Amino acid sequence: MDRVRLGVIGLGNMGAAHIRDSLPKVDRLVLTAVSDADATRMDRYEKVAQFENPSDLIQSGLVNAVLIATPHYAHTSVGIEALEAGLHVLVEKPISVHKADCEKLIAAHKGQVFAAMFNQRTDGAYQAIRRLVQSGELGEIKRVSWIITNWFRSEAYYASGGWRATWGGEGGGVLLNQAPHNLDLFQWMFGMPVRLRAFCGFGKYHDIEVEDDVTAYVEFANGATGTFITTTGEFPGSNRLEIAADRGRVTYQDGKIVFDRTSESVSEFSKTTPSSFPGMPTWRCEIPTSNPSNQHLEIIKNFTAAILDGAELLAPAVEGIHSVELANAMILSSLDGETIELPMDSARYEAKLAELVKNSARSKPAGNAEVADLSSSFGN
Ligand SMILES: NC(=O)c1ccc[n+]([C@@H]2O[C@H](COP(=O)([O-])OP(=O)(O)OC[C@H]3O[C@@H](n4cnc5c(N)ncnc54)[C@H](O)[C@@H]3O)[C@@H](O)[C@H]2O)c1
Repeated sequence: MDRVRLGVIGLGNMGAAHIRDSLPKVDRLVLTAVSDADATRMDRYEKVAQFENPSDLIQSGLVNAVLIATPHYAHTSVGIEALEAGLHVLVEKPISVHKADCEKLIAAHKGQVFAAMFNQRTDGAYQAIRRLVQSGELGEIKRVSWIITNWFRSEAYYASGGWRATWGGEGGGVLLNQAPHNLDLFQWMFGMPVRLRAFCGFGKYHDIEVEDDVTAYVEFANGATGTFITTTGEFPGSNRLEIAADRGRVTYQDGKIVFDRTSESVSEFSKTTPSSFPGMPTWRCEIPTSNPSNQHLEIIKNFTAAILDGAELLAPAVEGIHSVELANAMILSSLDGETIELPMDSARYEAKLAELVKNSARSKPAGNAEVADLSSSFGN
């Protein structure tokens, strides 16, 4: 194979943005087909094959890979069909709405290239923090605190699409739409917690039924603790990540990483110093980072290189189950008022979500939304 023949499924805000801003810049990849449940969305792609039904695109023989940019629930059904047909798949985030669906989707993966659009993994700042954590240079981590509240959304945003902010259409709120990026990065940098307790505000700032405000407390296997705070209701929001570790403190804010490194291990120093109110020398290092101007393009280039050259994926879709599990567990913890042990029982959450959908006064079917300008939702 010398080039990727790509079909894009879902031509709303994101699918159209990928076709416009990224695909023309990817060598050895050509758009050969599109699909959207709303046929009018395909009008502007008259040079390529058009299919109202994604199954027809998948079976057309015109594509060897698909990019799925539909509303969330269809990621699972369309993804399974594409994987079972042997196609390479790049799926938008979240990979599915709930953990049981992730398990089904992942089970359909038989070795093709299967990637997720976790575009923020291309941000050099998060890559640098991950390297710092994994290199052991920080020593044992004691606490991570992430306030990621720069996801402000208005009532107009939530009114812009029928599937948005409903249990039946989107499957959740900020944890399923905006924060999947951060939940993915959280587990990518620090690993999965072993338990969590969360408090969500459902429709706290907007006229919606799903969560738009979240405060979660997590515990890791080594005893480290963490907090994860997110909302779509605050402006100006923050993106401040702080890591307290045995060899100092790392803070990430305003695109800058600062490492205040201690001269020795804090735990050893605490045990051995004769002083009751001691301090120790620290060195401040600012770690330079860079962020690509088009993160989505980098993910699509990586997907292409993985198919054609066997390159390692930056964001394997199978890892997408973790951010979904964190989101599900936070919602479940809040609704049932209890600490959730991880890994979470996927059937328990599936049943809870089914109950939420059944009792919803608002859930609307996915699709056919107005195309709004969501360009500011693409990164941080
Ligand atoms: N990575 C990012 O930065 C980013 C940013 C925004 C949205 N997203 C994700 O992109 C996906 C799409 O979001 P959006 O904002 O483009 O939504 P949208 O509502 O604008 O577009 C969805 C499109 O899918 C079509 N559709 C619905 N069901 C379908 C089906 N079964 N088969 C074919 N087409 C179908 C609709 O007609 C619509 O055109 C979501 O997963 C969302 O979370 C990612």
